[in-house]
Amino acid sequence: MPENILLESPLEGVRVIRLNRPKVLNALNADTIAEINAALEGFATDEAVRAVILTGSDRAFAAGADISEMSGQTVSSMVTQNRFALWQRIAEFPKPLIAAVNGVALGGGLELAMTCDIMIAGETARFGQPEINLGIIPGAGGTQRLTHAVGKSLAMEMVLNARMLSADEALRAGLVSSVYPPEVLMHHAVLLAKQLATRAPLALRAAKASVNAAFENSLTQGLAAERQNFYLLFGTQDQKEGMQAFLEKRRANWQGR
Ligand code: CAA
Repeated sequence: MPENILLESPLEGVRVIRLNRPKVLNALNADTIAEINAALEGFATDEAVRAVILTGSDRAFAAGADISEMSGQTVSSMVTQNRFALWQRIAEFPKPLIAAVNGVALGGGLELAMTCDIMIAGETARFGQPEINLGIIPGAGGTQRLTHAVGKSLAMEMVLNARMLSADEALRAGLVSSVYPPEVLMHHAVLLAKQLATRAPLALRAAKASVNAAFENSLTQGLAAERQNFYLLFGTQDQKEGMQAFLEKRRANWQGR
């Protein structure tokens, strides 16, 4: 049984992973990241799971990597344990992953949220990469994913000078896609996940991989990846069904085949 996360099933097809270390504002220790990975591994192969929400509490999505756990680390322990490599596996989850952020998403907390596909936030959420205050830098994607999301100048202010963003600033910067009153954030996250859960699973997987290719590749490589994924979907029953349903003016019945 996981000790640092709670697993919830609010609706058919939708699962919630809730970070649950309230005493330390959901600081992310190695066990928590391992538990998130284990949950996602199970969801990845479970056909009944179609979309996943990652969230925290009202006060904190997560206040960063666990500083108590990190404080005694050395170069050699960091290199040999290579803990942050495990964070990357979360980015490889093939189904839609939504981060629902209330409270603080700082340091590794923001990096974890940025690993998700869609980030939505409560109006009082705050975002930052304050690692510079600890004499370090972000180590789980903060210098890279944040720069892609908000552009160089704002990313530099956040990483070099620990600038925090309000939810409204994060929305304007493109870091989050929607902002809601904090008390209805989860309701909207579940609604979004429910919509995603009704979509053609193989097309969703291809769509996620294709959008992610935009961050990995040159435009030419990204366009080639998109085209390949597009062509491959013509080998699925869902493509036949989706187009037939359109022509017959009825709702498609997706099989994930
Ligand atoms: N790791 C471990 N413990 C943490 C923590 C963290 N990242 N963030 C908060 N806590 C603990 C505090 O130590 C405190 O514990 P005690 O009650 O035992 O003292 C408890 O959570 C509550 O925190 P505060 O009393 O500080 O609460 P606050 O409301 O006054 O402040 C805060 C909230 C602004 C988030 C503040 O806690 C804070 O600045 N936290 C650290 C944020 C940070 O630096 N994150 C980056 C971590 S490094 C990283 O993430 C590296 C990476 O790239 C992967």
